Amino acid sequence: MKHTVVVAGLGNRGKIHVKGILENPGRFELLGVYDPSAEAVKKTVERFNITCPVFSSAEEMLVKTKPGIFVFVTHPEIRMEYIKLGIKHKVKGISFEKPMAVSLADAREITSLCHENGIKAIVSHQQKYMKQMQQMYACVRSGIIGEPELIRIFMRPWASQLGTHFVDYALWANGGVGAEWVVGHAHGRVKLTDDHPSPDYLFGEARLKNGATLIIESGYLAPFTMSDEEFWCNNRLTVYGPHGYAWAETNGRCAVFSPETKGKVELYQYPKFWEQQEDTQTPYYTEYADWMDDDGKQHSCNIDISLGGFEIIEGLYKSALENTRVDIPLEGGAPDAIAELKRILPEQSYPEGFKDGGFYKNGLQVK
Ligand SMILES: NC(=O)c1ccc[n+]([C@@H]2O[C@H](COP(=O)([O-])OP(=O)(O)OC[C@H]3O[C@@H](n4cnc5c(N)ncnc54)[C@H](O)[C@@H]3O)[C@@H](O)[C@H]2O)c1
Repeated sequence: MKHTVVVAGLGNRGKIHVKGILENPGRFELLGVYDPSAEAVKKTVERFNITCPVFSSAEEMLVKTKPGIFVFVTHPEIRMEYIKLGIKHKVKGISFEKPMAVSLADAREITSLCHENGIKAIVSHQQKYMKQMQQMYACVRSGIIGEPELIRIFMRPWASQLGTHFVDYALWANGGVGAEWVVGHAHGRVKLTDDHPSPDYLFGEARLKNGATLIIESGYLAPFTMSDEEFWCNNRLTVYGPHGYAWAETNGRCAVFSPETKGKVELYQYPKFWEQQEDTQTPYYTEYADWMDDDGKQHSCNIDISLGGFEIIEGLYKSALENTRVDIPLEGGAPDAIAELKRILPEQSYPEGFKDGGFYKNGLQVK
């Protein structure tokens, strides 16, 4: 049976979602698209020879097509509104972009609303389908290096850009087992006013419920291991077990050191991020169709693993703000961490060249 689907938001990422859906022709039928930008619609229709109707609002599209699945690919401030719209129009599935919400309160409410209304929701942490990430994952989950003991993630981009991705991948590599507590440090005000707001630097540790330790480092002080052009891919996820380790970077590289590699580190280079990124949405939607067909095949980007990652990042902010260990899930209410960081974090000096702008020099973002 084909799943009926509509897509709202046809910008850079929206087009990639449309591609992923259309590349599963036996599993999905695209019933409609919508974007307030005529230019975005035109480019999408032309690129994919789209023949389904184009609507003038998301609500009109949902009313007229009654789809099973609502995909929305919008900036972070549009999340709750569209989740509620999907519920109102009785969809069975929602796929949307990271970050899953602009606050922990919203992330929790979105997750609860989806559960209460029987909606299978997924958040696009699709970099896990890159070849090198799959190889790292296959090695770790095969058990050849033993149970994860230490997982280290670092990334130059700030936390709400790439941190949410990598925390999700760390939990995925850990078999979906989430955190017990976190301790964190945060500083830097420049990115607090970005449309993906975060402190400029976030560092911390999470103890995972299977005893593994997750070390997280996101932002301008994270290790600078690549050229300026590779700023967005300057990252690594490493899983250490008692018998070896495996790591992967979104720039295409991964490595394995295990009893099978006989004392050597085996290095692999797959196509770079920009060559692979468009193709990762296809398996993301294949896995979604599998989950829609079979409750037992839960999607690896399901909303619960995303919320687990979101709680970790919010816990790090809270720990940094209050100088305490923070147990997960965070107890009590869910304060607006970004507002608190804006209120409390001091101004500070930066290494030469660091400003809020569009390109990069020596790994720092400069005008
Ligand atoms: N998963 C990933 O690897 C990845 C990579 C980059 C960005 N993202 C995320 O994807 C999201 C979208 O980013 P983008 O790069 O596609 O942005 P974009 O600016 O290219 O596209 C956003 C689109 O949303 C449209 N839009 C605005 N208001 C709308 C509304 N009310 N309803 C429907 N559409 C509306 C805009 O016209 C635009 O075409 C962001 O949350 C971003 O963080 C994810």
